[in-house]
Amino acid sequence: MKVVVTFPIPDVAKQMISEQAVLQCWESEESIPASMLIDWITDADAILTTLTCPIYSELLAHAQQLKVISTVSVGVDHIDVDAAAERGVIVGHTPGVLTDSTADLTLALMLGVGRRVAEGDALIRSGAWSDGWKPNLLLGTDLSGSTVGLIGLGPIGQAVATRLKGFGCRVLASNRTLRSVEGIELVDRDILLSTADIVSLHTALTPETSGMIGRRELALMQDGAMLINTARGALVDEAALVAEIKSGRLRAGLDVYAEEPLPLASELRELPGCVLLPHVGSATERTRRAMFELALANLFAGLQGRDLPARLGAA
Ligand code: DGY
Repeated sequence: MKVVVTFPIPDVAKQMISEQAVLQCWESEESIPASMLIDWITDADAILTTLTCPIYSELLAHAQQLKVISTVSVGVDHIDVDAAAERGVIVGHTPGVLTDSTADLTLALMLGVGRRVAEGDALIRSGAWSDGWKPNLLLGTDLSGSTVGLIGLGPIGQAVATRLKGFGCRVLASNRTLRSVEGIELVDRDILLSTADIVSLHTALTPETSGMIGRRELALMQDGAMLINTARGALVDEAALVAEIKSGRLRAGLDVYAEEPLPLASELRELPGCVLLPHVGSATERTRRAMFELALANLFAGLQGRDLPARLGAA
């Protein structure tokens, strides 16, 4: 059997894989070139990968022996899951283990934007804080007592809601499944957008959700409202968001972008009123270790023909 790994992994993991299969591991921090991946995947039984490596239909067509794709991510928008299913390839991912870290970072963005944390930090570092405490210096908005609208109420959305209740927030949600959760008011998405002080996205990127927050949806948001995105950049029409932030009407806290890394030319970089993070929602040592361990467990289960601990689409 053969396992292809598309990113550098620790020696101990290489050892574990090599005990069961022939291992081909991409060792560079740069992405593996598509031609190399096609070559490697031709006789592979399994791939261990991440969200920076697209697994598309044409690529899968070269992988006649492939049984399992294991991704170190909960999101699977980088994988053509329909093409995988058609070929009988099982997909494993890492739900659950990153819920708390991502929810924590969501709150960090809400607080960071509302209380202008990055601007305060920049002020001090630039030497421009020269006259001490001032009554109107960096006035922001409170998270406490605000109305927060969550779009998507899966495990991460619910974990965000739990945290927000501690801040005394009113929590609204709009959710595809209309599953109600105690203490959260389920509302129509347009009502959520026009009512919330903060709108936070917690839905997967699919063809149906791509661009779901466009010009119309942003226009529904209240003056001064904040958009938080720790899910996927392509949920939002970024150009429309830039226009709203530029006009001073909206603020944003973003961890994810339509194109990653964020292009140097992106206007988002220039805009005050937003906090930008480099897709680090799950980036804590404990969570990344747990994600990697779960992805390895999925990989080995797939290789051995057992049920995956976290198979995509499993109930
Ligand atoms: C995921 O897992 O999908 C996150 O975006 C990265 O941890």
